[in-house]
Order: sequence, then structure tokens, then C-alpha cells
Amino acid sequence: MTTLNVDLGERSYPIFINKNLLGDSQLLQPYIPGNSALIVSNETVAPLYLESTQAMLSSLRHETVILPDGEKYKNLEVLNQIYDGLLASRLDRNTTIIALGGGVVGDMAGFASASYQRGVHFIQIPTTLLAQVDSSVGGKTGVNHALGKNMIGAFHQPKAVIADTNTIHTLPNRELSAGIAEVIKYGLINQADFFSWLEQNMEALLAKDNDALTHAIKISCQAKADIVAADERESGQRALLNLGHTFGHAIENNLGYGEWLHGEAIGAGMCMAAQMSHQMQWLSENDMHRIFKLIEKAKLPINAPASISNDDFLALMSVDKKVMDGVLKLVLMKAIGQSIVTSDYRREQLLDVIHHRSNASPV
Ligand SMILES: NC(=O)c1ccc[n+]([C@@H]2O[C@H](COP(=O)([O-])OP(=O)(O)OC[C@H]3O[C@@H](n4cnc5c(N)ncnc54)[C@H](O)[C@@H]3O)[C@@H](O)[C@H]2O)c1
Ligand SMILES: [Zn+2]
Repeated sequence: MTTLNVDLGERSYPIFINKNLLGDSQLLQPYIPGNSALIVSNETVAPLYLESTQAMLSSLRHETVILPDGEKYKNLEVLNQIYDGLLASRLDRNTTIIALGGGVVGDMAGFASASYQRGVHFIQIPTTLLAQVDSSVGGKTGVNHALGKNMIGAFHQPKAVIADTNTIHTLPNRELSAGIAEVIKYGLINQADFFSWLEQNMEALLAKDNDALTHAIKISCQAKADIVAADERESGQRALLNLGHTFGHAIENNLGYGEWLHGEAIGAGMCMAAQMSHQMQWLSENDMHRIFKLIEKAKLPINAPASISNDDFLALMSVDKKVMDGVLKLVLMKAIGQSIVTSDYRREQLLDVIHHRSNASPV
């Protein structure tokens, strides 16, 4: 079994990564301080994994709340179903909320844990690759508001994370690729060796090979944990995690959330960041093509949609939250594995990449 420790002083927690973790009662119970738990899952994931999760709790008192499936339900109204379940079952401040599902369930159950009776214990059992490599590290929880995504939330760290690679076997391939986009991102930020490993092992990841998944999840969580530990509340370094995201959010915003998956928009967004980094003579042509090629191999789009006008694209990027003091900060690459947060570029260089956004092709 691979175990990773997220080092946050008193709030440090382990991430367990392997196949066949669900069902193992030895694993979960040491992280449940009280004598009750509430499992939060959704309509899609519960039929697959609720039973084996319940088996991990054996005789411990536990209740379940099943939410509808979808980002559109990640709101305060549906969040209330979790509070209803907690209160109806009279669960006290020493209870533990267990999130069983993808990032949506994780964010909602996490926010319920942060706020119910001013905070109860929280455990994550992420079942999408995206949730295993991204949302299970960093402590961000929350729900959407009609006027903005993830606008209501809190920081709340889990007691433990259990990433069972078997759960990926039932995940739709498109969702798998979307998670791989974030995995590639860590390689580009500061893990050149890992990027090379991904070039060699992309087929194994797409085939949902347990060893390849375990390695990719471990390196990704470690990379995110290191960045977050250095900057828990997002002032500087943590912005590196936005590589591809400022471009990607413009795509998601324009098409409407749900048309492209988040990871797909990030795939095309990382290609734009690579293109711009190359035009600025930072990233070599060879590295740029390696990036296009890997993203394409992961079955992700390498070109942003041409249907968005240049003006709209720029406007959508500028409303992204990374604008500080009027300067749009971007994450660009000096090389593969050497990304920096910068506003050290000319406006024409940004306009140029927006203009030529659908020209990426791996050579
Ligand atoms: N908290 C953070 O730091 C953080 C980071 C990144 C993303 N997020 C959030 O995560 C959400 C996206 O997460 P996601 O990509 O996991 O989406 P998701 O939770 O919507 O899951 C994607 C789909 O896969 C289904 N599913 C989940 N596990 C499955 C499995 N094992 N087998 C079959 N189907 C399965 C889900 O029911 C859903 O239909 C967004 O709301 C985003 O804001 C949060
Ligand atoms: Zn992302």
C-alpha cells in the first residue's frame, strides 16, 4: 500500500492509495474519533460502492445521505439534504462525515463537515481520478452560487483520504481523461521526470492499470501537497496550480459549464499556455510539441474552440479570479517542469495566442 502524509502540523493526514481498499475496516476506523458517521454519496456512486464503504464501518453507527448526481446540484439547497440527514439522525459534534464520490460530493460533504455544529470530522473516499489527484488535497470545500462557481465555502482538512484505484474501473473514459489533465499539469509545473514517465505510461493509465494509477495519484497528491503546504491559503506559489486554468476557464465560461468537462478545457488551456510560452522564447519548440502530443494521447482536446471570438476570450480570461491589481497573472513555462506565475509578458503576446488558439498540432 502506498501512503502519503500531507504535512500540515496538527492537521496532518494520510492519503492511502491502492486497489482493494474499500471494504477494509482496519483502514477507516482509526480515523473516526467518535461513535457515529454519516456517509454522503450520490445516485450513481452509491449503487457501486456504498455497500463496501458501509462494510468498513462494521458495527459503528452510521447513516447515509444520497444526493442527486451533477454539478448543477452543488448548491445550498441540495446541501441542506446533508444537514437534514445529520439533524434527523441527531448526530453530534463528534460525528464523522464520509464523502464517497467525485469532487462534487467531496466539496459538498466537506463544506457540510466544516459548518455543521461549527465543524465535525471529515473523511474523503474520492472515486474519480480528478477527486483523487486534486480535490482530496488542499482542504477547499464548498458549493456554487447562481452568480459564481465555488463562491460559498470554507477550508476544512480531512482526517484521512482513501483513494481506491478499483473505483476508477467503473469511471467513464471521458471522466478519466479529464482527471489525467490535472495529472499532466503537475508534471508541467515542477516534475519533469514525472512528465517523461507519463509519456511512457499513458496507455497504462488509459487502460486503468492499478500500478500506473497508484503511481500517478501518489506523485500528483505529493506535488499538490507540497505546493499547498508552502502556501495553504493561496497567496503565491499555490497559483501555480492554475496552470492552463485561466485559459481553460474562458472556454468553460463561454461554452457553459457541462459542455466540455473541466479537464478537457484545462487540456486545451495548457496547450495555449505552452504556445504562449514558446512564442515568448521560453519553452523550446520540442517541449511544446511534447506537451501537445501527451495531451492528445490522453484523449484530451489540444485546441480551444474557434467559435469563441477573440474579444470574448480575452474578456472571459480577465474576469478570472487571477487578476490582481489590474494585471492578469498567467502561469507560463520556462521548460517542462519549470512553470512560473508571471505578468511579465506583453499584451500583444497574449492577444496573439488567443488569435492563433486553434493551431496546436503535435509533430
Ligand atoms: N476542492 C477542491 O480543491 C477541488 C479541486 C478540483 C475540483 N473540485 C470540484 O470537483 C468537482 C468536479 O469533480 P469530478 O470531476 O470528480 O466530478 P463529479 O463529482 O461530478 O464526478 C463525475 C461523474 O462521475 C461519476 N462518478 C464518480 N465516481 C465514479 C465511479 N467510480 N464510477 C462511475 N462513475 C463515477 C459522478 O457521479 C459524476 O457523474 C467540481 O465541482 C469542482 O469544483 C474541487
Ligand atoms: Zn482544475
